[in-house]
Amino acid sequence: MMFNLLNFATLAAVLAVTGTQANPLEARAASCTFPSPPKTSSLSSARTIPAGTTFDGGNVRFDRGSGACEGQHEGGDADAVFLVEDGATVQNVVIGANQAEGIHCLGSCTLKNVWFEDVCEDAVTIKQSSGTSTITGGGAKHAEDKVIQHNGGGNVVITNFCVQDFGKLYRSCGNCKTQHKRTVSISNIIASDGSSIAGINSNYGDVATITKSSLTLSNVKSVCDTYEGNDDGDEPDKLTSNTSNANCKF
Ligand SMILES: *[C@@H]1O[C@H](CO)[C@@H](O)[C@H](O)[C@H]1NC(C)=O
Repeated sequence: MMFNLLNFATLAAVLAVTGTQANPLEARAASCTFPSPPKTSSLSSARTIPAGTTFDGGNVRFDRGSGACEGQHEGGDADAVFLVEDGATVQNVVIGANQAEGIHCLGSCTLKNVWFEDVCEDAVTIKQSSGTSTITGGGAKHAEDKVIQHNGGGNVVITNFCVQDFGKLYRSCGNCKTQHKRTVSISNIIASDGSSIAGINSNYGDVATITKSSLTLSNVKSVCDTYEGNDDGDEPDKLTSNTSNANCKF
């Protein structure tokens, strides 16, 4: 009897250890300790990360050279730092202030421990037609407006992320020419000094699922807002603010 119990305890201990080692990144909580890289790499053009590959930046700072940020001027793919193709991963990268468009995901992408020191127009633009893109670990500071802009379709997962001094952490495009029903799930966020965690278009059936108990908010006005989106470029009207409903689930 004693022998069996001891064996069980040993086995349980071994399982517990392998369990925590299996997925150290995913198990980590959000951190607001931004890396401070000694080295900056200024790219003369946007760098493409080919489909299905992983780019590990080793926590080097990447930018596009001084003067590259022109405030809320809407840029294109050519103004990004990284263009991430379908199924590709970018990890351990710091994006400096001298850039305009941050990272564009052309298909479903994974961004792990990507840090935006000073967001310009926006930090991440999701252009996938369907599928799931995941942003896990890392953080963003000083986004006048949006941090993660979802222009394509499908689903976005944002977890273990820190955001400071921002407009919206996530926005489903309010006035893109081609609109979609978009979904987002948000958990384990440390957010301070911002207007909202998520903004979605209820008229297109968007759904934001936000685990409220996993958010640490300080001076953030709203968890989730709904808008009347359009496809003609007009500024969309806000319908509800900080209200849990069928589209804003928190
Ligand atoms: C927004 O809603 C959350 C959750 O219901 C609440 O805790 C928070 O106080 C609200 N914020 C404001 C600014 O009313």
